[in-house]
Parts: sequence; C-alpha cells; structure tokens
Amino acid sequence: MSAGSAKMPGSVPANAEAGWPKDVGIICLEVYVPSQYVDQAELEQFDGVAAGKYTIGLGQAKMGFCSDQEDINSLCLTAVQHLMERNCLSYDSVGRLEVGTETIIDKSKSVKTVLMQLFEESGNTDVEGIDTTNACYGGTAALFNAVNWVESSSWDGRYALVVAGDIAVYATGSARPTGGAGAVAMLVGPNAPLVLERGLRGTHMQHAYDFYKPDMVSEYPVVDGKLSIECYLSALDRCYKVFRDKIHARWQKEGSDKRFSLDDFGFMVFHSPYCKLVQKSLARLLLNDFLGHPRPDTDSGVFSGLEAFRDVKPQDTYFDRDVEKAFMKASAQMFEEKTKASLLISNQNGNMYTPSVYGCLASVLAQYSPQQLAGQRIGVFSYGSGFAATLYSIRVTEDDTPGSPLAKLTASLCDLQARLDSRRKVAPEVFAENMKLRQETHHLANYKPQSSVDELFPGTWYLTSVDEKHRRQYARRPLNEDGPLEAGLVHSTTAAEHIPSPAKKVPRIPAASSGPDMVPIANGEH
Ligand code: ACO
Repeated sequence: MSAGSAKMPGSVPANAEAGWPKDVGIICLEVYVPSQYVDQAELEQFDGVAAGKYTIGLGQAKMGFCSDQEDINSLCLTAVQHLMERNCLSYDSVGRLEVGTETIIDKSKSVKTVLMQLFEESGNTDVEGIDTTNACYGGTAALFNAVNWVESSSWDGRYALVVAGDIAVYATGSARPTGGAGAVAMLVGPNAPLVLERGLRGTHMQHAYDFYKPDMVSEYPVVDGKLSIECYLSALDRCYKVFRDKIHARWQKEGSDKRFSLDDFGFMVFHSPYCKLVQKSLARLLLNDFLGHPRPDTDSGVFSGLEAFRDVKPQDTYFDRDVEKAFMKASAQMFEEKTKASLLISNQNGNMYTPSVYGCLASVLAQYSPQQLAGQRIGVFSYGSGFAATLYSIRVTEDDTPGSPLAKLTASLCDLQARLDSRRKVAPEVFAENMKLRQETHHLANYKPQSSVDELFPGTWYLTSVDEKHRRQYARRPLNEDGPLEAGLVHSTTAAEHIPSPAKKVPRIPAASSGPDMVPIANGEH
C-alpha cells in the first residue's frame, strides 16, 4: 500500500498482513474563519475599558464572528468541503468522520449526520464516527478517536476525517473579548507528515464548574474566569508531569537517563483562550522543568537568577505575580522560538474553542518551511473546561523534499495570513447588534436569517431557513462567478494522487498570495 493511501469499501487493507499501519497522524488540514471581525482596540473603546486591556492584557488583536447566516453545521460543512476540494479527495475514500464541538443546536441529532449530505453523491454511507463534546477538548477527543480507529483492528484502510468547529460567544462583560469562531478539518491516515507519537499522551481530567453551558436555549456559557485559568494551569502542570513520566519510562527502557525538558519540543502549541494565557503557559512549563530538575544551574543558562523560586509549590503559584514575571522573562526566548508563531490565528480571530489548538498548529505550519519543520517534535496541549486536558506530541516527518506530504501540507496553508487579511472589519456597534440578533434568534423555529449572503466568503455554506419543526436548510455561496473549475486547477496538495476514483468537478478556494507575517504579541510585562 502506498504512503497515505486509502482503499475502497470492502477491500482488505494491505497492512492487515504487514502489521499495524505506520506513522498515523494528520495528513492535511484546512482552516475556516468567518469573513468578518471586530477590532479589539475599537472594542476596548466601545466597552469603555482601559486602552490596552484586550490588546495587550489579553494579547488579542481581532475577533472573528458569525452572523445569523452561519451555525455549527454550516461551519463544519464549509471546512470539510474545503478540505476535500483543496486536496482533490473523493468522499468514498473516507471511512470515519468525527466531529468535535461544544456548539450544540440539537440535543439528539449530531453535526456528523448533517455532514453526511456531502457524502450523498458518492453513495458512501459506510462512515463511522459521531460528535464528541466537552468544551474546547472535543476536537482532540475526535482526533484521538480517528487516530485510534486507523491504528485499530476496525480499520478498513480508508481515511478518517476530523472536524472541530465552534461559535465562541460570551454575554457582554469581561469574557466577551475572548470569543471567536471557526472550524478546522483534518485528514487522518497512515504515513502522515504529522505523526501522533504512540503512547505519549499525558491526560488529566477532573470535575469543576469553571465554564459550562447549563442554559439549553442560550449560546453563552456560565464562566468563572479566574477559576477557569486556575483549572487550565493546573491541568497543564499535571499533563506535563504525566507526559514526562511516560517519556522518561520509555527512555529508561532504551537505556538512557536523559531528562525531558522544553528543549525537546521544537514547537509547543496550546489551546488558546487568549494569547497572553499561552505565553504564561509556556512560562509555566519552564517552572515545571525548573522545579522538577534535581540540580538546576541558577548561575547561567535558562534558569539563571531563579534560585529564589526553588521551593515554591506549583499549586500556590497560579496567580503569583513574582513567579509569573520571573518565568515569563526566563522563557521569553523560548516563546519567540517555539510558540509565538502558533498564535497567528488566535491573535487575529480569537478563541475558536475546539479548533483553537489546531488553529495554533496550522499557524506554525503556515509560517515555517518544510526544512525547518522536518524531524521536529511538536508539543500540543489541549484543554476543555469542566475539565479535560491532554498534552501529547506530534513528530514531524523527516522528508522535506519538494512534493513530499510535508511540503504539500505547508503549501496548502501558505495563504493563511492572506485569508485572514481578506476579512471585512466591522464596527463594534455592528458586532454588538449581531450578537443581539444571534441571542434573540439562534434557537427559533420558522426563522429566515437576515444577514447578507454576499458578505460570506465564496464557497461558504450558510443557513437559508429553519422551518416550523426546527429543520435547517443550507446552501453554499458559489466559489466564483463562472462556476466550478476543473480539479486540476485546485491547489495541488496532499493525498490526492492516492485516491483511486477520478476527481469530480470541484470549485476553487481563494488563491494564495503573500506569505504570512509573525504575530505581534505582548511582551508579558502586565
Ligand atoms: N493595559 C494592559 N493590560 C491591561 C490593562 C491595560 N489598560 N488593563 C488590564 N490589563 C491586563 C490585566 O492586568 C490582566 O493581565 P494579567 O492576566 O496578566 O493579570 C489582563 O489585562 C486581563 O485583565 P483582567 O482584569 O484580569 O480581566 P478580567 O478579569 O476582566 O477578564 C478573563 C479576563 C477572566 C480571562 C475573561 O476574559 C474571561 O472570563 N474569559 C473567558 C474564560 C477563559 O477564556 N478562560 C481561559 C481558560 S477556559 C477557556 O478556554 C474558555
């Protein structure tokens, strides 16, 4: 079986005889963000808070949001179809589709079943998987389900597809600027350029009411902001410990007494509720390295000058300004090298909830060359309130040659900044009106969305109506005035050549233009 290949239903995967599929992970990835955003500096003024609170204090520049024309089904339809088209994939090459979301518009019917409309023309209904929910963690749970399926005896040789999507909206008040919206779709299979390292997952799950959605007709969560930060940071501590213990055990088995530290991650990406928390989280990992080190050198190197913090107890330091400041300073260089680039989408679009951490991953892939990425280990920390968290690692393939799966994956994301830049800025008043409209109408039967379809990106799915029985209808905005283009004109990216059935006529996604710039992130002095 060729690299990343997928078999048709009924066929026996070649690896069934050869053993387990190798190097299972993410083959390609597609990000969708809404076409409009509000500027956070303007929002500070509108909300009457001190200038800098959202932009420097939280590290957010722009916040994407959806009109009443989009819901969780339309977001996921758009992301999945873009992924399939950009990679010339046929729907019968997919044997599992997992959805991660906390944007619930139906207590029974899954988003996954709505997405099956995309499969209808192919005739493929043999598609396992369903929705997974726990706050921002659902995307990771969905990804793990997909990877586990490919690595299991249930695998039939086809790809798995994962889509994480959410509309992150808060009631007016301090949490509102930490909203956002979007979806990330990922294709999972063997011989992937981004391999989830086997057995290296540090998980921590615990009960807390830090952020939850008990009101079935409200899109807004009940949130205890401070508690949610404490839960996030405590989960990070616990997950990192478990992850390191597992890798130490593995290394010991291999005869090495090497200690794992942040240096062993080429990149470190986090679930990003807002960029500043991510910057603090990297500092937190350095604190863990420091406290876990038997004899840290405090005279030189990264721990230089940190002796005074030798005896601090992690559980006493979640809001300790001195510890935070010292370790943010000590990790500043690491932040530049390992994490800052991951915050492109987060800074420009806000918290997308389940796709947030995968938006961070995409941001790294969009800004580094295959040569810079090849062979690196990427640490991934996923957190969902309530709470559920995992820190796991992705190993990037060594093959960085032109045309390699890694080169195709990065090429498919090279227009990310251009896509973000092509969005429309709206005034905070318009944003507030939009939030009010959603609040009043998102749950209604017999509803026709009022916003203009023309403002959506070409190729975006949108809600056309909700009938008296709450049944939702969708349509897709045409990709261009002249109609669909031939498959050959679409971005040439991963996996397409492995698909046995001929590509159908597929429409074109907005083309790539200039390369992305780095994200301006606050330096952590607040
Ligand atoms: N210039 C620069 N910085 C400023 C300014 C200013 N004028 N004013 C305030 N700041 C800083 C503050 O010092 C603070 O920095 P710090 O975090 O380093 O202390 C930061 O801006 C935020 O100000 P706060 O007063 O702490 O903000 P507030 O308490 O009003 O809200 C919060 C922040 C709790 C994050 C809120 O936005 C929230 O509840 N968000 C949703 C919950 C969330 O995202 N939790 C994270 C994990 S769970 C999840 O992912 C949903």
